[in-house]
Parts: sequence; structure tokens; C-alpha cells
Amino acid sequence: MRRGATVYLYELAWILPSIAIPVGMLAALLVTAFGAGIHVPSVAGQVDPTKVPETAPFDKPGLVQTGPRHYEVRMVAQIWSFTPDEIRVPTGSTVTFVATSKDVIHGLFIPGANVNVMLIPGQIARVTAHFDRPGEFFIACHEYCGIAHHTMGGRVVVETRP
Ligand code: CUA
Repeated sequence: MRRGATVYLYELAWILPSIAIPVGMLAALLVTAFGAGIHVPSVAGQVDPTKVPETAPFDKPGLVQTGPRHYEVRMVAQIWSFTPDEIRVPTGSTVTFVATSKDVIHGLFIPGANVNVMLIPGQIARVTAHFDRPGEFFIACHEYCGIAHHTMGGRVVVETRP
């Protein structure tokens, strides 16, 4: 075999997968996005990210009681904090977090409480957790959001109350 032809086939063996792989990934993306109906996780509605402070329920961020031992937290994430950054509930509470971001993508992660969602500008995330034992739970932003990302946190304090 001529040396030139060997080099050509060798190049072709690299060129074809380098075209086929992105085309395959694009096809997989289109099939999952439009065919399988896969959407943003925990999407509970949309909000104009430039009007979060004026839009209910984010115009009054904080904890509201919605029933016996049931609470809802309306939470806004921004660089580099959560509002509110501390909530206090009694032991045995069910807490629903309704949260969004005002600027960039943040995360809402509460280790030990089954809360793990992305906070995407324009999207409202909704996630419910049960706090059955007293103690403190750390709230972490677990999506890199800039230079002070590591300082962005808060806490859930589960209190023993009669
Ligand atoms: Cu907000 Cu990382």
C-alpha cells in the first residue's frame, strides 16, 4: 500500500467520529428536549428575572405558615446570598421552598434534607422537605456563581417547640 493512502485513511478515521459525535449529541439533545419532554428540573412556573422584587411571592421573601407544621419559604437568590438566609421551624415541620434567582444560576442544596435544585433566572423552583429532628441544616449554593460563591449560604434551624 502506498504511504500517502495510509495517512489519508488514518485521518479519515479521526475526521468521521469528530463529525459523527457532535451530530449524535445534537440529535440526542433534540430528541430528549422535544421528544421525551425533558425540561428544567423542578420548574414551578416562570418569573421575569428583572422584576423578581416586584413579583409575588418574591416581593415578600420569608417564611409563611400554610398549615399546622406546614411552612412555605419564599426565597430569592442573588450574588452572593439567599433572602432569607435563615429560617426557623419547629421539629416535625414540612417546608416547601419556592425559590428563584435574580441574576445568575445559583443552587439550593440542603444536605440531609433532600433539597437539591438549581435556581435559574426566570424559572421558579419548588421543592418540599421534612424536618423531623431538631438541629441545624446548612443551606448551600452549589452552582458556581462567581468570586464569592463559597460564601453563599444560609441555615435552617429546626427547633424543639412544645
Ligand atoms: Cu450562588 Cu454559588
